[in-house]
Amino acid sequence: MEVVIVDRPEQVMADIIAEAVSGGASTLGLATGSSPLATYTELIRRHREEGLSFAGVNAVLLDEYVGLPPTHPESYARFIRDNFTDHIDIGEVHSPDGMAPDSKVAAEAYDALIAQVGPVDVQILGIGSNGHIGFNEPSSSLTSRTRIKTLTEKTRQDNARFFDSFDEVPMHVITQGLGTICDAKRLALVATGEGKADAIAAAVEGPLAASCPASILQWHRHATVVIDPAAASKL
Ligand code: GLP
Repeated sequence: MEVVIVDRPEQVMADIIAEAVSGGASTLGLATGSSPLATYTELIRRHREEGLSFAGVNAVLLDEYVGLPPTHPESYARFIRDNFTDHIDIGEVHSPDGMAPDSKVAAEAYDALIAQVGPVDVQILGIGSNGHIGFNEPSSSLTSRTRIKTLTEKTRQDNARFFDSFDEVPMHVITQGLGTICDAKRLALVATGEGKADAIAAAVEGPLAASCPASILQWHRHATVVIDPAAASKL
């Protein structure tokens, strides 16, 4: 695992994506949450000002809330359109169907779709304060595939800031599994701020363990963790 500590992680993240895309990458794995936002803003800038093109590239999202339609402002399908993909010339953007009548069937179908459009060339990741990636909460199987998961109270509290109230945060999600995520050729995780320092320390220097799902990056053959000094403060 490579750990890069820099004042502006979004620049390094954007370099990783831009290099992959310019080098012929055909599938990007996108993450939501606030952590990759600066990276998306920088990639949009490079697209507009420097001609970085995503033509011929498709994307797959990591996860989605169950019960939120793709038009809901907090659905991840909407989030990624608003904050990134509507502003660049990328091809198709796939996400799990949070409104499917049977979430188990939808999860399996999404895993099959990723295998079909993949392998993902670069998977962008954030990290939850409890060490989750995607919505793989602590104790997720290290080889898990895309499936329905119940959110921990901690994650629902963390994400409540995006909703009008805690009660509005969905209880269930469909998320790529840790095994699915690790099928990507490269993983690039970005984190900033002191609030992520414990999770980063556990992921980078703790044991490879289901108690910290992000520690799976230690096992992956090409993983890069890009963090600012605050997120690195407990290393
Ligand atoms: C959510 C997402 C994760 C993300 C995490 C951290 O739970 N499912 O993909 O990494 O939040 O979010 P943030 O970057 O806003 O701290």
